[in-house]
Amino acid sequence: MNVIMGQAGGADTPGRAAIGGANILITGGAGFIGSHLADRLLDEGAARVVVLDNLFLGKLENLTGALGRGAVFIRDDAEIEGTLAYAIAEHGIDVVFNCATKALNYSFINPLNAYLTNVRIMANLLELQRAGAFATLCHFSSSEVYGTAVYEPMDESHPMNPTTTYAAGKAAADIMLHSYVKQYGLDSFIMRPFNNYGPRQNFEGPLAGIIPATARRVMSGEPPEIHGTGGQSRDFIYVLDTVDAVMKLYGRLPAGEAVNISTNGQISVNELMALMARELGYTGETLRKEARTADVLCHNASNEKMKTFIDFTPTPFSDGLRETLAWYKAHI
Ligand SMILES: NC(=O)c1ccc[n+]([C@@H]2O[C@H](COP(=O)([O-])OP(=O)(O)OC[C@H]3O[C@@H](n4cnc5c(N)ncnc54)[C@H](O)[C@@H]3O)[C@@H](O)[C@H]2O)c1
Repeated sequence: MNVIMGQAGGADTPGRAAIGGANILITGGAGFIGSHLADRLLDEGAARVVVLDNLFLGKLENLTGALGRGAVFIRDDAEIEGTLAYAIAEHGIDVVFNCATKALNYSFINPLNAYLTNVRIMANLLELQRAGAFATLCHFSSSEVYGTAVYEPMDESHPMNPTTTYAAGKAAADIMLHSYVKQYGLDSFIMRPFNNYGPRQNFEGPLAGIIPATARRVMSGEPPEIHGTGGQSRDFIYVLDTVDAVMKLYGRLPAGEAVNISTNGQISVNELMALMARELGYTGETLRKEARTADVLCHNASNEKMKTFIDFTPTPFSDGLRETLAWYKAHI
């Protein structure tokens, strides 16, 4: 494997436009990761950053900084091909970062729609790219495609065993991308983050992930909840580390490749709850709930492949958690 350590956002991959000077579309860019990506793309000198989001879960407030620096927001649905086609043509888009998705927890409420959103948006983007509407597609997959680990740590060769329709839709989208690259030589590739946490992650309603949901409960005077034994583990990565890795990988990851973005560590839900309680000064009880069906038991990721392309030092979990909880204190 060729080890290249160039500038973040620069393009060492022949034919791929550098981020600096490019017109970029982020689908789902009003969400958690996409909004941080918008900020970073502007830092890297993107000529134009366009966000297309239907605000299913994303929030305009997440883009306050980016909009103040000239980003463009389009409130619309990426599942409609014509909508994407219009946005791409209107803004002369060179590169698309596909972050749009309906949250994992939504697949417990509306399984088919959670699946179809992931598949339809990918189908639209690949067909538009095949027709020459834009040059490069950086797609956000998910560690959820792997399901519960059959070996650890999970590298990119781990079998795809989705246990939710959300994950099945993500896996289908990944397979679709690989097939279009093989068939049509498209410049498309896959970033596969593990569990992210950090400022701007949705904390409201039933779609909130475990860290924001726990922060919300404790800060609203309710006891935190653990589903199942709490022995289930996750590889939590700070959102700004993910965005930094994506920026550095952008110019180096060849078309058709997928790469895990993770810390190489894992933490159990029980450990997480203990850490959060300590940070929040919470000494009350923790409610034990039934395990969620299809909950992945173990997510221990290998980031060896990523480290063949870039230098990576993750933010220590305790530091990232402190920053995150400070943000929730200011927003809940
Ligand atoms: N957050 C994580 O821990 C994590 C982990 C692995 C992978 N990912 C992936 O990273 C990407 C971003 O995740 P996130 O955590 O920022 O999620 P998010 O829910 O905060 O952002 C997704 C955005 O997509 C928008 N959206 C949904 N359906 C849409 C549609 N039809 N048209 C336009 N916009 C639509 C939502 O409104 C939201 O703003 C996703 O692809 C997700 O699968 C996230």
